[in-house]
Amino acid sequence: MTTPAAVLVDSAAYAQAVEDAVKASAAYYEGGTSTLDDDTYDRLVRGISAWEADHPDEVLPDSPTGKVAGGALEGDVPHTVAMLSLDNVFSAEEFTAWTASLARRLGHEVTRFSVEPKLDGLAIAARYTRGRLTRLITRGDGTAGEDVSHAIGTIEGLPRELAEPVTVEVRGEVLMTTAQFEHANEERTGHGGQPFANPRNAAAGTLRAKERAYTVPMTFFVYGLLPLPDTEAALAARLGECAHSELMAESSRLGVNTPATTAVAGITAGTTEQVLARVQEIAALRADLPFGIDGIVVKADLAADQRTAGSGTRAPRWAIAYKLPAVEKITRLLEVEWNVGRTGVIAPRGVLEPVEIDGSTITYATLHNPADITRRDLRLGDHVMVHRAGDVIPRIEAPVAHLRTGEERPIVFPEVCPRCSSAIDTSEQRWRCENGRNCHLVASLSYAAGRDQLDIEGLGATRVVQLVESGLVADLADLFTLTRDQLLGLERMGETSTDNLLAALTVAKGRPLSRVLCALGVRGTGRSMSRRIARHFATMDAIRAADTEAMQQVEGIGTEKAPTIVAELAELAPLIDRLVARGVNMTEPGAAPPAPVTEDAAEAGGSEPAGGPLTGMTVVVTGGMTGPLEKLSRNQMNELIERAGGRSSSSVSKKTSLVVAGDNAGSKRAKAEDLGVRLATPDEFAAVVADYLA
Ligand code: IVH
Repeated sequence: MTTPAAVLVDSAAYAQAVEDAVKASAAYYEGGTSTLDDDTYDRLVRGISAWEADHPDEVLPDSPTGKVAGGALEGDVPHTVAMLSLDNVFSAEEFTAWTASLARRLGHEVTRFSVEPKLDGLAIAARYTRGRLTRLITRGDGTAGEDVSHAIGTIEGLPRELAEPVTVEVRGEVLMTTAQFEHANEERTGHGGQPFANPRNAAAGTLRAKERAYTVPMTFFVYGLLPLPDTEAALAARLGECAHSELMAESSRLGVNTPATTAVAGITAGTTEQVLARVQEIAALRADLPFGIDGIVVKADLAADQRTAGSGTRAPRWAIAYKLPAVEKITRLLEVEWNVGRTGVIAPRGVLEPVEIDGSTITYATLHNPADITRRDLRLGDHVMVHRAGDVIPRIEAPVAHLRTGEERPIVFPEVCPRCSSAIDTSEQRWRCENGRNCHLVASLSYAAGRDQLDIEGLGATRVVQLVESGLVADLADLFTLTRDQLLGLERMGETSTDNLLAALTVAKGRPLSRVLCALGVRGTGRSMSRRIARHFATMDAIRAADTEAMQQVEGIGTEKAPTIVAELAELAPLIDRLVARGVNMTEPGAAPPAPVTEDAAEAGGSEPAGGPLTGMTVVVTGGMTGPLEKLSRNQMNELIERAGGRSSSSVSKKTSLVVAGDNAGSKRAKAEDLGVRLATPDEFAAVVADYLA
């Protein structure tokens, strides 16, 4: 859904709007942080357009409406063919209206569209002479751009040498992937700079920076291929006749990166319905992509249609950008709260002036840790860029430093634990209460009793509070010493509830080691890591005997994680001893302890048990399960996959062997289809793993 255009009441409001838009646009293209987020900018420009339509004689010369790139900086390298912008639509209705107007102009319906992601970076023209990359030029004002050839060699996907010695211009988008963006900000703040607010700004700033002590890589995706004046005539003629999809295939053959390497590859579609279906698929895949997109670009694919439709001064008539809702907004950081988690970690959380992003009102956003706050120089009252995509927890990307008024206040870090006033261990990036998991005992016990851990029925948060407040339980092991009389002595505990809880506790004692380990809440491990550790070592004794080297034999545990896990287990030793004494199971059914580590065994990656129908397979489960799997939680499904010899994963990639897609499976199913990954229904999958169903 799109937000309405800004309403401009008079010529003064119009002039102000033009000035604001020009300023924001300049900041955007110069690589600074814009004063307006994309959504607000779009609304403003639509408001300006509407006012201009009613007052055609009063249009100001700097108005962003007639310009490519909203009036970006001009450069001094002329483009041989103008680098145009795109018109936007915001809904299926607007898109259908656009196709109808294009059909009227052409005199026939479009029968072949190309549909590709609208990459959220900046446009660049790369000139190749006899196959060698000789010049990089920004879009600038569309007719001339800036020479940024100094960036040659820092952009992945834009090779210095093409596969053939042709003279051509490759046009496309330079952007930073999420990983490149994180790296760029580490480098920048490490060199004393302000972090970039988002990958787009980071790419723009990096591309323009000429002399910098360090280089940060970026990524290129092509969306156009055209001849240059020196191009051999036959090739120029051939390119002029190619459909857009053919030009993309040709670029790829020459060695240039295209979206075909991603989950949102360009496709061709014959009808408006097919285009809209692909728009929905790309929208669903957006949150999982390793780079930003802000829409979908739909083009008439055939060269003849493009020629007949022609172009306006700002944008071609044969292409349109179908914009997706913004995932970033600027709002104010009002407060920072410090919350203690179940392992005693003290995590900061930003309280925001409520802001709507893609249909939800956001009032909180994660801040990673105190060092991160300091590095990014965040202050209370700051305007901040907030990012939220899909179901991901919103995060604060960076302050918009030039919107500061001087009234901003420093963020005060706690000196003692905000929960129990104990001292704080600040030796690691994530601060922790020295009281550890006993600080927020209710949270740590509730987690241990949860469905994916010990699954103790009848032990909800209220009951945990009661047990802790009555002094009956001071740690996890105390749960298993509770007597009938003690429980009956508690308020609202009748005979039935008491007997049920005692029975549930007895069942809990017999849970597999992976569940017990997870219940302990070892920092650096979650459900799937606990399962991998338990399956690898098979017994708690073997886990406790593991040094960091042995711990690294478990898949997914590297040099950084291993010491934390080993130290955590040492810290938990007294508690584990007490759990053992109370009869809690400490073995993993079906797993065998590793053989003593010899070099050969270490190279082979430890001693994971082989066998089972899913051996060697990576399986992703999505959607609602039905049939024999109906009652299984996601965690139980993952346990089942691993019992049957497979590996469970939550995200679909080229490495995924199978996706079990149940009711209402969404983006993961779409991605699997896109990548050609095998799909199974819950019933088909149940048949494969029938012997392993508990
Ligand atoms: S085609 C003549 N295709 O979006 C056609 N542009 O808002 C001009 N963009 O200036 C561009 N992904 O910087 C095209 N797949 C794509 C694109 C794309 C991103 C950018 C490009 C353009 C801007 C317009």
